[in-house]
Amino acid sequence: MATLTSIGHAGLFIETSTFTLVFDPWMSPYGAYMGSWFQFPRNDHLDIKSLTSATYVAISHEHLDHMDSWFLEQLSDETTVLIPAYPSDTFANRIRESGVDRIIKINSWEPFPLDNGGSWIMTIPQLSPMFHDSGFLIVTEGRSVLNCNDAKLTASQARRAKHLAGGRLDVMAVQASSSAWHPMCYSYPAEEERRIAMEKRMIKLRAVHRLVRATEPELALPFAGPPCYLDPELRDLNRVLDTEHGAFVHPEAARNWLSEHLPGQAWETLKPGDRLDLRTGEITRDPVSAEFSFTEGVEEYIRRYAEDRAEVLEKIRVEYPEPGPGFPERFVNHFTRLGTLSDYFLEHIDMTVRFEITGPNGGVWDVRMNADGLAIGPATTERPGYTITVRGRWVEPILAGDLAWEDLLLSFRIRLGRDPDVYNGYLVGLLKHANAPALEAVEEYETGRDETERITVTDGDRAFEIARYCPHAGEDLSISAVIEDGKIHCLSHNFAFDLATGACVNARCAPLATREISPS
Ligand code: FES
Repeated sequence: MATLTSIGHAGLFIETSTFTLVFDPWMSPYGAYMGSWFQFPRNDHLDIKSLTSATYVAISHEHLDHMDSWFLEQLSDETTVLIPAYPSDTFANRIRESGVDRIIKINSWEPFPLDNGGSWIMTIPQLSPMFHDSGFLIVTEGRSVLNCNDAKLTASQARRAKHLAGGRLDVMAVQASSSAWHPMCYSYPAEEERRIAMEKRMIKLRAVHRLVRATEPELALPFAGPPCYLDPELRDLNRVLDTEHGAFVHPEAARNWLSEHLPGQAWETLKPGDRLDLRTGEITRDPVSAEFSFTEGVEEYIRRYAEDRAEVLEKIRVEYPEPGPGFPERFVNHFTRLGTLSDYFLEHIDMTVRFEITGPNGGVWDVRMNADGLAIGPATTERPGYTITVRGRWVEPILAGDLAWEDLLLSFRIRLGRDPDVYNGYLVGLLKHANAPALEAVEEYETGRDETERITVTDGDRAFEIARYCPHAGEDLSISAVIEDGKIHCLSHNFAFDLATGACVNARCAPLATREISPS
């Protein structure tokens, strides 16, 4: 009898008669991202032994709320870790650093057998290699689960997964809460932050709505976030959890909105320890988690939770000391190395980024990245396109190679400014991958795309023939976009394109091919 149990956040535990498998366990009492994120609701009452002795642990990507080294260090020697085969070895190497040797990389869309009885798992990567995110499809004992976790799968990918599962998906678990640092880490007036947060919230919900509507699973589970913030320096960020207006949608708020807008679809939410019988659909609720509410007593819950983690937070602070006198030299060397990784990315970044490193041995540097290469030096009077302000103690682990820039961004221990106020995905891509093969894979993908296919869309009484696939990361705009005010908004990452000109109006991105035609 196969069951699926939530272990909190994006973690799921599958138990069958022949094997057990844990997806993306995040159990660490140290939270993630340098003590910034903590599991919400908490999952520390669960029995970790049955998880660390699982037959398999499947990890979708290297974000620290999915790849938990505290958990991996306790894994049984018998457990095999399954990961998607990404273009670089960084992910596998980081898992190895936790003392895990039994790692198997699974190629996209290839079934990997889990037992001798016909059970299998496959990975389904997000289309663009700019994002190392991947869903998992598992089929066992006549049941199927599509675990999308943080991967933004397209409707056609999800439908293909359903087809491969035999035409029926018993459970589709899909992330409904974003976790991005925009707008919270930017200095927007409160009203503007709230407007952007609402916009992002709705984009996320609409994307889940469209994906689930196109896939029609037997049961859809919004899951995988949000986290909460316990460090006194970050506690104010818990405003993102507001049920009505926060940027991060908790699973129950998502389920409420989604079931109202897609009423024919079965929706459920699971808290840590809640167990779903995949054969009968019956759910057994965890008595500890049953005490938790997303809507009542949240402030008090977080206050008590923070008290319980006070010692841990103190330890984390000690683990990340202020940098020594060699910091400036190492900082410059770090960027000099980044400048050698990809001419394609430097050309597309095409801006100056100012780093204001505060605290002992800090400084202010301008990093110019464009078709001429990368140059770093003391700040000048030039107006930077991006400004990144952060304390040196949080940058040290990046220079040491222990963390990635994306970990720092996700820690929210950073202030950002951009002028003009548009997203530069290439800058984030260079910082997050910082690895030549990974950047080459993006270049190959973007320069090798078939740009010729066209679809017709209408905006009121005007009609346009546009490229079918989003110039950002290839989302199919025929099914994953909304049109408003003369713009088409891609639901994958919320880039908006002016239908008349094709220009991307809120991010640095190649234009969308577009041509106005006579309405038919
Ligand atoms: S694929 Fe990213 S915004 Fe369209």
